Amino acid sequence: MMHLSLLFSALLCQVTGLETVIGLYGKTVEIPCNIKIAKVEDIMLTKWKYSNGPSVAGDLLIKQKNENATVSATKEYKHRVSMAANFSLLLADAKLTDQHTFTCLMVYGGDIKEYSFKLVVQKLPEPLFITEKAEALEIGKRTKLGTCVAKNGNPAANIVWLKNNKTLSSDGNRILINETVVKEPGSDLLTVASTLQFSAEKDDTGAQFSCRAEHPQGRDLVSPPQTFTITLSCPAEYRSDLLSQAEHHS
Ligand SMILES: *[C@@H]1O[C@H](CO)[C@@H](O)[C@H](O)[C@H]1NC(C)=O
Ligand SMILES: *[C@@H]1O[C@H](CO)[C@@H](O)[C@H](O)[C@H]1NC(C)=O
Ligand SMILES: *[C@@H]1O[C@H](CO)[C@@H](O)[C@H](O)[C@H]1NC(C)=O
Ligand SMILES: *[C@@H]1O[C@H](CO)[C@@H](O)[C@H](O)[C@H]1NC(C)=O
Repeated sequence: MMHLSLLFSALLCQVTGLETVIGLYGKTVEIPCNIKIAKVEDIMLTKWKYSNGPSVAGDLLIKQKNENATVSATKEYKHRVSMAANFSLLLADAKLTDQHTFTCLMVYGGDIKEYSFKLVVQKLPEPLFITEKAEALEIGKRTKLGTCVAKNGNPAANIVWLKNNKTLSSDGNRILINETVVKEPGSDLLTVASTLQFSAEKDDTGAQFSCRAEHPQGRDLVSPPQTFTITLSCPAEYRSDLLSQAEHHS
């Protein structure tokens, strides 16, 4: 029991202590071999490997002293990995499924050292747009104004609705905002759709509605602004028309 908990806390420390490298989706990611060795000539062997939990692991590259690195990877990494002259791992065309732990191992002067980084792959979503727009907003009646879509990002974008550049938040009554996040098949990228239900007031005529995405890869993602026709639930002129028609018929 004692042994188990010791082992467990040791593992926990290892995991929480891991530094991350953030790579951009589709780009070449550099993961440095962070082992400091005074004399490069002392390095007998350098190896890169990856792992993720108990079932995912593999070798990527091996470099013997005075030789070029050779690829030992199979399948998805075979044609995407190389070793830089400074021993960094270069991983081309980064994907979300590459978010593993990458470990550099060096054998030198009778010693072995390892250094690991956790790879995180990020992508800015595509330009935001508002779809499923309301034809008009009726004063005092909560209406679905539109859906703001941020496609193919990682992590999921945080969408904020704006009226005249001021943040709108759900108040459970006049303003309701809800959101769905969908994982795109194949890429695993995340598409966020945020729907705004809005109850207009008279002075919302000409108001500009837009949405903004908050994302670690960029700040200024804003949709083109939209304006809406504001209508009265039953316009006065229309009502008097109906009244005069009714009088005619009676
Ligand atoms: C390493 O690769 C370079 C360039 O491809 C080549 O010129 C050189 O001969 C290779 N060295 C060894 C030791 O194989
Ligand atoms: C290692 O080499 C690569 C490729 O030449 C370079 O982009 C990178 O900045 C170098 N990294 C370090 C930590 O020196
Ligand atoms: C909102 O901000 C943008 C960019 O800062 C600006 O061009 C636009 O005129 C603003 N719109 C309103 C209604 O304030
Ligand atoms: C928002 O909530 C409504 C009511 O609960 C639901 O019908 C609708 O599908 C939701 N929309 C999204 C984008 O989640």
